[in-house]
Amino acid sequence: MQGNPLENRGPLSIIACNSGKSFAKRIVTELGKIAKKEKDEREYRICDSVEIIFPNGEVKVVINEFIRGDDVYIIQCMDDPLSDRSVNDNLMALVTAINGAYQADPDHITAVTPQYPYARQERRKTREAISARLVAHLLEAAGAQRVLTLDIHAEAIQGFFNFTKLEDMHASGELIDYITQTMKLDTGNLVVTGPDVGSAERARHYSKILGTPLAIVDKARDYSKVSKVESMRLVGRVKDKDVLIVDDMIATGGTMLSAASLLKEKGAKDIYVAVSLPFFNGNAVERIDRAYDEKVIKKVIGTDAVFWGEAFVKSTVWYEEVSVAPLFAKVIYNINKKRSVSKLLR
Ligand code: R5P
Repeated sequence: MQGNPLENRGPLSIIACNSGKSFAKRIVTELGKIAKKEKDEREYRICDSVEIIFPNGEVKVVINEFIRGDDVYIIQCMDDPLSDRSVNDNLMALVTAINGAYQADPDHITAVTPQYPYARQERRKTREAISARLVAHLLEAAGAQRVLTLDIHAEAIQGFFNFTKLEDMHASGELIDYITQTMKLDTGNLVVTGPDVGSAERARHYSKILGTPLAIVDKARDYSKVSKVESMRLVGRVKDKDVLIVDDMIATGGTMLSAASLLKEKGAKDIYVAVSLPFFNGNAVERIDRAYDEKVIKKVIGTDAVFWGEAFVKSTVWYEEVSVAPLFAKVIYNINKKRSVSKLLR
């Protein structure tokens, strides 16, 4: 169905970089469901494109279909546990896909990158780069007019773009629905906490929606070392309570596991963790396995914005996956139809 230029943007086209393919397939399935409800006859599918890796490691994405005038969404997951491509490889692949699309003259280009790379390098602490800003400039220079991401580590990154719009989506709605409706967690005995002061706002949001008390873990980092937590203390009471730790990401797991140990010391019962971006870098999975065996952690609930695949989800007893593909599909569909997305971004 050709888009009506007065009502819609150009036809919605999905392009997937290699590491974004699995997530893109889920989004396309969800777009199909929305289209069916809307009696929209357009067929949603992933455009034919190929990611070429040269012997020296350089990469380029070639789009094999006509996209002139289309409203193009390019999907890439930077941290892909199912491949050996690094975040840097995947960022570069995305940039070449955006610029490849740009050369093909579409109506509009949106980069869909649920994990904004380098988001934790958003300010300078010593003689170091503000890399989150460099990434913004790179995406913009490549030709992205909009970036869709999930629970970006620092919202101020929006301001690093000159013309490109950054839309930050939140997994909290999906995670809370899962916790209350699928897991049916007893919120009557629950306290919500964030593993550091930076996560206090997120924890407050969850505790408000779930109607639970709030506690805060105050974490101090030693910035002279990579991923090193220095000390932690608890503000609030958790004795004999189940606790839900909420955070934007689990990387090495150090922050979450230190918070969980502290909460146990303070008398917490079962500890659940809800996280938008379950990276589980390094030996995080083994560390959480141990914490599960030692009854420190009961469950980690993460989203498929970091795509671990069915085998991992099925075999990892402490892990529950919630899909944010329906949310991304709704936002993409609404943007294409020039409908409001503000409620979906909350
Ligand atoms: C920190 O400010 C973030 O919100 C996360 O808590 C942190 O980046 C997680 O990192 P790790 O799992 O390596 O401790």
